[in-house]
Amino acid sequence: MVHHWGQMAGRRQESQCVNMPDKTVASPVTMKVPLLDLKSQYAALRGEILPALEAVLESQQLIGGPAVARLEAAVAAYCGCAYGVGVSSGTDALLCALMGLDIGPGAEVITTPYTFFATAGSIMRAGARPVFVDIDLATFNIDPDRISAAVTSRTRAIMPVHLFGQMAEMDPIMAVADRHGLAVIEDAAQSIGARYKGRPSGSIGTVGALSFFPTKNLGGAGDGGMMVTANASLAHRLAILRNHGMEPKYHYQWIGGNFRLDTLQAAYLLVKLQHLDEWSARRRANGDLYRQRLAGCDEIICPHISPANQTIFNQFVIRSPQRDGLKAHLAAHGIGTEIYYPLSLHEQPCFKSLGYRRGDFPNSELAAAQALALPIYPELSAQQIHYVADTILAFFS
Ligand SMILES: Cc1ncc(COP(=O)(O)O)c(C=O)c1O
Repeated sequence: MVHHWGQMAGRRQESQCVNMPDKTVASPVTMKVPLLDLKSQYAALRGEILPALEAVLESQQLIGGPAVARLEAAVAAYCGCAYGVGVSSGTDALLCALMGLDIGPGAEVITTPYTFFATAGSIMRAGARPVFVDIDLATFNIDPDRISAAVTSRTRAIMPVHLFGQMAEMDPIMAVADRHGLAVIEDAAQSIGARYKGRPSGSIGTVGALSFFPTKNLGGAGDGGMMVTANASLAHRLAILRNHGMEPKYHYQWIGGNFRLDTLQAAYLLVKLQHLDEWSARRRANGDLYRQRLAGCDEIICPHISPANQTIFNQFVIRSPQRDGLKAHLAAHGIGTEIYYPLSLHEQPCFKSLGYRRGDFPNSELAAAQALALPIYPELSAQQIHYVADTILAFFS
């Protein structure tokens, strides 16, 4: 992934960087701060994780079983939903949700162009058409005031993305959806545990799609995802669709797919879920410290969290007109960063058939040119955050 594996590849580059003679800066690297450090989290939980995985292996129930059912119930409860249906990835959660709502050829789905590929990719794979609406630059999320104008007689759903861990402005989005009888599929891949006016991410729309990709706040040992909903009949249909559409055995009501969540993943995630609140709180505390340290720096804009929101800071994304220079400077000082996302989806070659052009979504294009994610993971020390902040301030001084 550029967006995920880039972090890991980025870490390799950083370590090379640390060992290479530095031609760009006079001062040496004094500390290494990767964008993400999954090893320290695993080291702290090894004693809980290994027995949980061993229990699954000993049982040899490797598909479905009690661990998957327990995780579905626990994550659904965590998200304030009655039902959770585990799937193989966040991408499949989005696709299966669209299939469950019968959204396919001829349908339009309103979404944001400033998101990870899978948001619009899943709409296209379902056979429907993504209709992009520009973002609010302050939050990076879809601008609710522009949604109404994008509704047509073909619109079937809105797919807001709660980007970087902050939920989209759900009240106006739900108002448009209610007015036009549209479904709302929350792309909550980056926002498990976030809240909007006290309501958990994934619980406000018709269905929410979660990702357990390893870089997410609740990261699995590989790919995984879940759909959460309050709607019993939709949950029933989604559970059948994620298993080929099969019900009862070897009888197929619908054409689904193999979107199942592995039992080993469920056991791993059940351990990690116990720690999720604490990790997200630490990410918020890290965000507060960055904000304090960077407050006086006019050259960068820290992420704006709207008063209605409690973010989980899956990413802490600043904006700077000098983003590329700043990124290089930080890399030269051993600090990992990432660009989420360097090219807005309406400009991606694979979506050319949609007919969008550069200039269509200026806020999204500006974000793509200026956004930079800083390390925010829970195990970061205050010393590391001060080092990142000092290095940023030194770049602009
Ligand atoms: C906004 C968004 N949507 C969807 C996905 C897809 O999730 P997954 O990688 O689990 O397929 C991601 C994952 O990065 C994401 O960030």
